[in-house]
Amino acid sequence: MEEKRDKMEGLYQALAQRAVEAREGAYCPYSHFAVGAALLCADGTVYAGCNIENAGLTATNCAERTAFFRAVADGHRKFLAIAIAGGPEGEPPAQLCAPCGVCRQVMAEFCGPDFEILLTDGTTYRRLPFREILPLPFGPGDLAPQG
Ligand code: THU
Repeated sequence: MEEKRDKMEGLYQALAQRAVEAREGAYCPYSHFAVGAALLCADGTVYAGCNIENAGLTATNCAERTAFFRAVADGHRKFLAIAIAGGPEGEPPAQLCAPCGVCRQVMAEFCGPDFEILLTDGTTYRRLPFREILPLPFGPGDLAPQG
């Protein structure tokens, strides 16, 4: 039991570290707020993502969605956890950065209530189940034909 907990702890720490590293790719000339994400797929593959801003600000893509879209484009559909690190560009991620509403909706498409969200400042992390950050999600099941 304890062994499994230690293993998970190591895995979460490694995922958090990948999110910190992914910040280096951020393209954020407008907000100067760099975000990195690391998405753990059910088969153990990890996809990194960063925020990619745009002069037409609404075309900006968040780090979390970059990671999801990369993974989905490669054929992945099942996910276990995502680590997120954000903060002012050029500085270590000093604050916990929670996913925006649009990213939560993208998560709702592919993730169940137990999907884990790891918010990291690079040293430690806070872990929350998806159901806590998006209660009452609107998901694919809501469009299923009514019996
Ligand atoms: N951003 C993310 O990439 N993920 C989040 O969880 C919050 C916000 C980005 C979008 C934008 O490029 C910048 O951070 C400031 O909002």
